Amino acid sequence: RKKVTIQALHALRQAKTPITMVTAYDYPSALACSSSLLTDITLVGDSLAQVCLGYASTTQLTLDEMIHHAKAVARGTTHPFLVADMPFGSYYTSTDAAVANAVRLVQEGRVEGVKLEGGREIVDVVRRLTAVGIPVMAHVGLLPQRHSALSGYKVQGRSVEAARRVVGDALALEEAGAFAVLVEAVPQELGRYITERVKVPTIGIGAGPGTSGQVLVADDLLGVWSGHKAKFVRRFAHLKDVRDGGIQSYCEAVRDGTFPHPDTESYTMDKAEWNRFL
Ligand code: KIV
Ligand code: NA
Repeated sequence: RKKVTIQALHALRQAKTPITMVTAYDYPSALACSSSLLTDITLVGDSLAQVCLGYASTTQLTLDEMIHHAKAVARGTTHPFLVADMPFGSYYTSTDAAVANAVRLVQEGRVEGVKLEGGREIVDVVRRLTAVGIPVMAHVGLLPQRHSALSGYKVQGRSVEAARRVVGDALALEEAGAFAVLVEAVPQELGRYITERVKVPTIGIGAGPGTSGQVLVADDLLGVWSGHKAKFVRRFAHLKDVRDGGIQSYCEAVRDGTFPHPDTESYTMDKAEWNRFL
């Protein structure tokens, strides 16, 4: 498949073909994303913090850590359009700092676009990044980087006022130049409504079937976790069981002496050579 471009993403939206996006955090997971010709976008999500690095939230992830992982993902990415999250704190201090940090993600991390969480308060940054040629995916609705301010990870836009705020944010970010809008954890009615109101593709997670595309955290859809599962997650595989089972079987085989097998899993010395050695 040819490299996916922003133009191609707009064409998919136009054709009402649901856009596919999935996260990757390192070289093997990037290869997994690229293994399906149906994958449109690979996201180096800052869920990297919890999924790969064991942090409690995305707010602990640094820009240097994101770049380190984005580099590995880029090495394993073929056709999907590659986007990375700008980590918490890397785009709020000033527009210049945001540009400098986004440039590092493109130059060192080798990503093609960046994703920023926020509403109207970040339109100046989105406008500037777009102006200097760094494509921005906006992220509205539930903003995990603000989980403390939001008192947790909750569905957003459930009241009339809250719904209007999310729609206003999406429209403002589109106007500022965002090439797509990710909508997280909102009622499906709102996910569909935002998609009808903006002209750019919308990518939903917990936003119902009415958006232009869908994204899930790879480890969630693959069942790498066995812990809490959000309502919007579907497990398409159960890798944790397979992986833990493999480790268990290996340890058992070592313990009971059945691994390694002397004939098939071990090297042998020439008999005469061995006798001379002795
Ligand atoms: O970091 C992440 O994984 C995300 C999700 C919306 C997929 O931003
Ligand atoms: Na994220």
